Amino acid sequence: MMSEWWKRGIVYQIYPLSFQDSNGDGKGDLQGIRGRLDYLQWLGVDAVWISPIYPSPMKDCGYDVADYRGIAPEFGTLSDFDALFADVRARGMKLILDFVPNHSSDQHPWFRESRDSRRSAKRDWYIWRDPAKDGGPPNNWLSNFAGSAWTLDKRTGQYYYHAFLKEQPDLNWRNPAVRTAMYDVLRFWMERGVDGFRVDVLWHLMKDAQMRDNPPNPGYRPGDPAVRRVLDVYSADQPEIFEVLAEMRGVVDAYPGRILIGEIYLPLERLVAYYGVGGNGVHLPFNFHLILAPWSAREIAKVIAEYERLVPPGEWPNWVIGNHDQKRIATRVGAAQARVAAMLLLTLRGTPTLYYGDELGMEDVRIPPERARDNWTRTEPGQVGRDPQRTPMQWDASVNAGFTRSEPWLPLNKNFERVCVESQKRDAHSMLSLYRALIDLRRSSAALVGGAKRLVEAPDEVLAYERAEGRERLMVALNFCREPRVLRGVAGRLLLSTHLDREGERFDGELRLRADEGVIADLAARAS
Ligand code: NOJ
Ligand code: CA
Repeated sequence: MMSEWWKRGIVYQIYPLSFQDSNGDGKGDLQGIRGRLDYLQWLGVDAVWISPIYPSPMKDCGYDVADYRGIAPEFGTLSDFDALFADVRARGMKLILDFVPNHSSDQHPWFRESRDSRRSAKRDWYIWRDPAKDGGPPNNWLSNFAGSAWTLDKRTGQYYYHAFLKEQPDLNWRNPAVRTAMYDVLRFWMERGVDGFRVDVLWHLMKDAQMRDNPPNPGYRPGDPAVRRVLDVYSADQPEIFEVLAEMRGVVDAYPGRILIGEIYLPLERLVAYYGVGGNGVHLPFNFHLILAPWSAREIAKVIAEYERLVPPGEWPNWVIGNHDQKRIATRVGAAQARVAAMLLLTLRGTPTLYYGDELGMEDVRIPPERARDNWTRTEPGQVGRDPQRTPMQWDASVNAGFTRSEPWLPLNKNFERVCVESQKRDAHSMLSLYRALIDLRRSSAALVGGAKRLVEAPDEVLAYERAEGRERLMVALNFCREPRVLRGVAGRLLLSTHLDREGERFDGELRLRADEGVIADLAARAS
């Protein structure tokens, strides 16, 4: 089997505000996470990625960092962090931090100094431009959270650029001093032991040197987020990013076994460029195409085939079905298909990343406007807020689902008595039992972890593929529809069904799938 942990392993994303509160302030924290490591070990994940835990005014729930080398008081202290790290390590697991290099908080001392005067030593650490002739913004670039991406600083008479909130000014990555400072941040955390970084909006780091206007998007439809009115031709994914990336990779490679995972929303052929050439990009450019593609066997098969074709030789694929920015999988495709999605995620060739709570089938929670926390709901009225997918982890049937003893920072789903770790652990047919079984099977199967993969012919609305390694030959068949389907010309023994009730069943010539059923079968085992 492959030796690198990040190829073999399963990554689990924790949204720290929502995992476990330990001190009764209604917000998750590091001690809370620490107290739940036994669960993660029992579940069988290998690496934990924690969304930002740095000091922050929390305008974007921590993605607005005011100090890259500290821990936000609401999450704990550096010694809490060290204790958490030690406990993760003691369980043989890895810890991945979120690195937010594209922008800082406007409260970061660097930006305070930068905005202080045009002659400030840190002026060029951010992106400042004179107003356009009419006094308006320097170009037509839009914030991802709606409106112009430029905010005028009245005192110094210039605009600064922010791809997100105005409280998140973009750093100027063309400035070598910025790069040096940020690489030192990576070293700081690697010296403390961390195993890698998920790099926030990596494809945004470099912008067009001339800052040309973006072209209008002919595909824009009313109701789309406002940022889609223009195509980000000049504001992201610039060729110069690869020079930065190579430097960043060099910094990380100086510490054995550490990895970079890039957050990148780009079409597949652009996404794979972020592997770099000969290992000078990120180890894993997050592949979000299972989230972006319509949920049908045919569309998903297309994504798989195209992605497998494009991943450069020697590089390793990866798959994601949920995160804190996307609708939860159970809400997007429904409870029954979420089980099929789980089987897909854990049997494809490549590193899977799980989003906390998806292993329970947690759903998006409707958040009343007065309880909204995501400021995007304020900058862009409509259906854009991400609070629904960020609600507290549902641990047990006690008050507040065992997440907190006081009012949780976001409301809990009312279904928590049923959809929670404690009750699903006891239920042999629950989503959690399915995840456990899938993870167990994956861990014990060289074919699932590292084996070759081949899509096979299947009836309409069924996705089927084989995974093989040595003498092991498995088939995964996933029924994307609400009617039964039959695969012909196959023989073997079922190892697992998404319904958790057919294990060991033999089939010879015909493999029957019930509505919304996925199965993993051992083809090497002759049907008797
Ligand atoms: C991507 C993060 O995942 C998202 O939550 C955040 O709002 C933006 N980057 C800005 O940092
Ligand atoms: Ca707390």
